[in-house]
Amino acid sequence: MKVRLLDPSDARAYQRLRLLALQETPTAFSASYGDEAGRSMDEVAARITPAADGSICVLGIFERDELAGFVVVIHPQREKLCHAVELAGMYVAPTFRRRGFGRTLLKVTVAHVQSIAGVRQIKLGVNATNTGAKALYQSIGFASYGVEPDALRVDGTFYGEEHYVLRIDPLA
Ligand SMILES: CC(C)(COP(=O)(O)OP(=O)(O)OC[C@H]1O[C@@H](n2cnc3c(N)ncnc32)[C@H](O)[C@@H]1OP(=O)(O)O)[C@@H](O)C(=O)NCCC(=O)NCCS
Repeated sequence: MKVRLLDPSDARAYQRLRLLALQETPTAFSASYGDEAGRSMDEVAARITPAADGSICVLGIFERDELAGFVVVIHPQREKLCHAVELAGMYVAPTFRRRGFGRTLLKVTVAHVQSIAGVRQIKLGVNATNTGAKALYQSIGFASYGVEPDALRVDGTFYGEEHYVLRIDPLA
């Protein structure tokens, strides 16, 4: 397995996996399949291209040349918020699960974030019922600091969103 930043050449593979994610586990994401199914390849390519200002990028994990999973890294550029990076949309395709892809992707992502000067914490939100993802985040060292009740409504059912933070040593 190999982890690298996605670029426009990954647009087709990313969109295929992203739409699978939204169909397969709708309760794990705030976006819906309908929100994203109509996007053109140009739009998708633009969304996964690492931002010139460093505010957003997508890391993908590959098995041979196949995209197996991804996570979005959001780095606010505003002065008062730029020490805290957010992770979103983490997904590993069903055929690759429970083989360490998620943990490897997360560890490489944490190392990537650690290399950004001044960042001292990484945060993310997870459906409070998602025990598998929560176990993964906890195994890396993320600590839960609260649950927003009824944060998500999927097909008429409400779900809490559990918030996690990982404190890291800033390089600068
Ligand atoms: C959550 C997810 C990313 C985990 O990916 P993965 O590649 O299967 O994770 P790993 O194989 O690296 O597992 C690492 C650890 O996480 C925990 N874990 C992962 N899936 C689990 C599950 N279904 N049940 C219990 N623990 C689980 C385990 O502690 C596991 O370690 P172990 O296999 O040594 O016991 C993947 O299941 C997924 O994409 N799920 C659907 C989307 C989703 O929930 N995304 C998270 C949004 S916040």
